[in-house]
Amino acid sequence: MCGIIGYTGKEQAAPKLLLGLKRLEYRGYDSAGIAVSSEGGFSVCKKKGRVSELNGAEKIKGVCGVGHTRWATHGAPSERNAHPHAFGRFVLVHNGIIENYLPLKEECEGRGEKFISETDSEVIAHLLEYYDRGDVLAALKETAARLEGSYALAVMCRDEPNVLYAARRKSPLIVGRGKEGLYLASDVPAIAECGELYSLCDGEFAVLPGDKIRFYGEEGEIKKETMKLVSKSDIPEKGEYAHFMLKEMHEIPAAIANSLINFEDDFCFSAINIVLCQTEYIQIVACGTAYHSGIAAKYAIEALARVPVEVTVASEYRYRDPIVKKGTLVLAVSQSGETADTLAAAELAKERGATVIAITNVPDSSITQIAHFVLFTRAGREIAVAATKSFNAQLALLFSLAVALAKAKGRETVPSLRPLPALAEEVVSEAEKMKEIAPMLLGAKSVYFIGRGADYCAALEGSLKLKEISYLPSEGYPAGELKHGTLALIDKGTPVIAILMQEGLSEKTMNAVFEVYARGGRVILVTNLPEYAARKEVYRSVLLPKCEELFSPILSVIPLQALAYYTSLARGNDPDKPRNLAKSVTVE
Ligand code: F6R
Repeated sequence: MCGIIGYTGKEQAAPKLLLGLKRLEYRGYDSAGIAVSSEGGFSVCKKKGRVSELNGAEKIKGVCGVGHTRWATHGAPSERNAHPHAFGRFVLVHNGIIENYLPLKEECEGRGEKFISETDSEVIAHLLEYYDRGDVLAALKETAARLEGSYALAVMCRDEPNVLYAARRKSPLIVGRGKEGLYLASDVPAIAECGELYSLCDGEFAVLPGDKIRFYGEEGEIKKETMKLVSKSDIPEKGEYAHFMLKEMHEIPAAIANSLINFEDDFCFSAINIVLCQTEYIQIVACGTAYHSGIAAKYAIEALARVPVEVTVASEYRYRDPIVKKGTLVLAVSQSGETADTLAAAELAKERGATVIAITNVPDSSITQIAHFVLFTRAGREIAVAATKSFNAQLALLFSLAVALAKAKGRETVPSLRPLPALAEEVVSEAEKMKEIAPMLLGAKSVYFIGRGADYCAALEGSLKLKEISYLPSEGYPAGELKHGTLALIDKGTPVIAILMQEGLSEKTMNAVFEVYARGGRVILVTNLPEYAARKEVYRSVLLPKCEELFSPILSVIPLQALAYYTSLARGNDPDKPRNLAKSVTVE
C-alpha cells in the first residue's frame, strides 16, 4: 500500500529515488512522483501510472529528496493526487491512511488554506506549515499528535534543504546508512545496499541531516539497535524468468523445505512446545491467501491433534467481539506481517488473554512486535502481488505445527512432512502444462473450483489466484455445496476445476463432477487418483503424485497457481501487477 523513499547525501538524489521506487513498486503502482531540494525550493515530478512514467526525472539536480509510488485510497489515481504533496515550506510523502483528515482539512480551509488534491495526505503538509515555529521536529511531533490512523512519513522543509524528517505509526519505515548517504524506505530491499539499517517503531521519529541519524521517542532522543543486514538474495531480481510470479512458483520446493520445522530438534522451539501442551483451542486469523492456509491448517490440526480450530478472516475477527477462553492459542498468519486487519486481530486477541504466535515471511515486520512468539516462513522475498511460494511455505509451517501439536497431545503416529519438497519439485516441473489448459478459460463468463476438506482449501486459493490476476469471475466451493445453489450457474461449457486428492472422499467429489457433466459443464480434474482422470465425464485432467492427504493442498495448489498465471498472460495482463491491488495491505 504505497512505497516511500528518501535520500540525503553527497550524490544526486533523483537516480537513487527512482531505483528505490522501482524496487517498491509491488506496494502500489497507480501513480508515482519525486521531489528534490533545489535552489530556493523543490523540483517535483509526478505522473499517473508506473514509476517508468517519470521520464526525465533522473535529470533533476539535488542531493536530498523523497519519492512515492501510490496505491490510491482517497482520490482517484491521477497526477494531482500523486505524492509528493507540498504546502508552504514543506513537501512530503505518506504511506497509510489519515482517518480524521476531513475535520483537519476543514480546520485548514477555515484558515483560508487551499487544497490541490483529494488525498488525505495533503492535510499533513498544511499542519506542518501551521505548527512550524522554526523547529521542524517539534512541528512534526505536534502534527503527528493530531493525526488518527496510520502513517509512514518522509518530510522535507525548504529552510533545511538537505535534512530528511521521518515519522511512523502502524506503517513500516526503515532508515539506512549507505556509503554515499542516508536513506528512508518502506521496505528493506529498496535500500538493500545500506551497510546499517534500523526499523522505526510506532511513535518514533528520525532526523537525517545528511551525515548522522538521530532517533526520537515520546521522551526525547533514543538509541536504536541495527537490524540484520540483507543478503544479495533479498534484492528482488527476475533473473531468467519473464515474471516474478513465475520465478516465485519455481522457488516453491525450496520455500517448503526451508519452512518445515522440526519442533523437537530445535532448542528455540521448546517455549512454543510448552504453549502447545497447554493449548485447548486455536483461533487462526488472516486475510486472503493466508486465510486459505489457515483453512488447510484447521483440517490438519483437528485431524492430527484433535484440538478444535476456528479460522476467521481478520477483518471479521477484529469487529466481532471474539470469545477468547483460557488455553486459547491465536495464530496470526501474514506473509508481509503488515496487513492492517491481521495486526488489529492479533492485538485484540492478545488484549483478551490469548497467546499469540505470528507466522510471517518478513523479519522485523510489524506483527513481530505484537506477537508473543514468531515463527518465520522462509520463502524468501515475495514480489509478485499474487502470493504463491509464501502460501506453500505457510502450509509447510502450519503442517509442522499440526504435527508438533499432535505429539504434544500424546499422539504417537504422525505423518511425515519430509517427502513434500521433492514432491513439490516434481509438480512444479510439470506446471508449464497448464499453458494448454488456460485457453479453455478464456471465453468463460465464470469459472468454479470445487473440492472437499483439504481439497476445498486448494479450491479457494485456486479461485482467488485466477480472479486476482486474470480478472475472470470465479468462486471456490465445497464440492457438496454445489447443488445448494451454484449448480444453477453451470451450463454448456462452464469450466469447473475439481480437486480430488483424498481417496476416502473420491466418490463424493466425483458425484459433483457427474452433476456438472450432466449440465454440460467441462470438468478439469486435478487429482492423484489416475482411475478418475480417465473417466469420460472428465474433460481434461492434471495428474499429481500421491502424498499424505491432509497435506495435499501444498501440491494441488501448484497447477492452480500456474493456471492463473497462464490465463493472465493469455488475457494480456501483467500477472505481477494486477489492477487495483498491491502487495502489502497496510490500510483497512
Ligand atoms: C493474494 C494475496 C492476498 C494476501 C492478503 C494477506 O494473492 O496475496 O490475498 O494474501 O492480502 O496478505 P498478508 O499475508 O501479507 O497478510
